[in-house]
Amino acid sequence: MNIDIGIDTAQREAIAGGLSRVLADSYTLYLKTHNFHWNVTGPMFQTLHLMFETHYTELALAVDLVAERIRALGVAAPATYAKFRALSSIAEEEGVPKAHDMIRQLVDGHETVARTAREVFRMAEAASDQPTCDLLTQRMQVHEKTAWMLRSLLE
Ligand SMILES: [Fe+2]
Repeated sequence: MNIDIGIDTAQREAIAGGLSRVLADSYTLYLKTHNFHWNVTGPMFQTLHLMFETHYTELALAVDLVAERIRALGVAAPATYAKFRALSSIAEEEGVPKAHDMIRQLVDGHETVARTAREVFRMAEAASDQPTCDLLTQRMQVHEKTAWMLRSLLE
């Protein structure tokens, strides 16, 4: 059955494509945060281990909302590691960095998702796609706040 929500097909597909990048960034950041929860060491172990858990739990819930918005726009959500790797702007970490470098990488990751979300927001706004704008506003808020909190640990 055709979708008739007042956003034309080309715009729906373009926005879904942008949301797929937000999804890929978020999933990559989710995995990196879980990785660091497992592998962090040093005197800040307890603080960081617990803080990273809070962050990856939030991300695990968020990816579902982003994927389901893509579906509501009539497009299949990417859902493989290969697709996420191709779509994501966040590089994976192959080694086990020191705690300080983990925090740096996570600040960078949260800022990256905020930038991607902001880019896609403009597209959604131009198409009067308020639900996507609302979702992206919430995501930017979380990522910018988390980046601030992590950044504060480095000062
Ligand atoms: Fe755990």
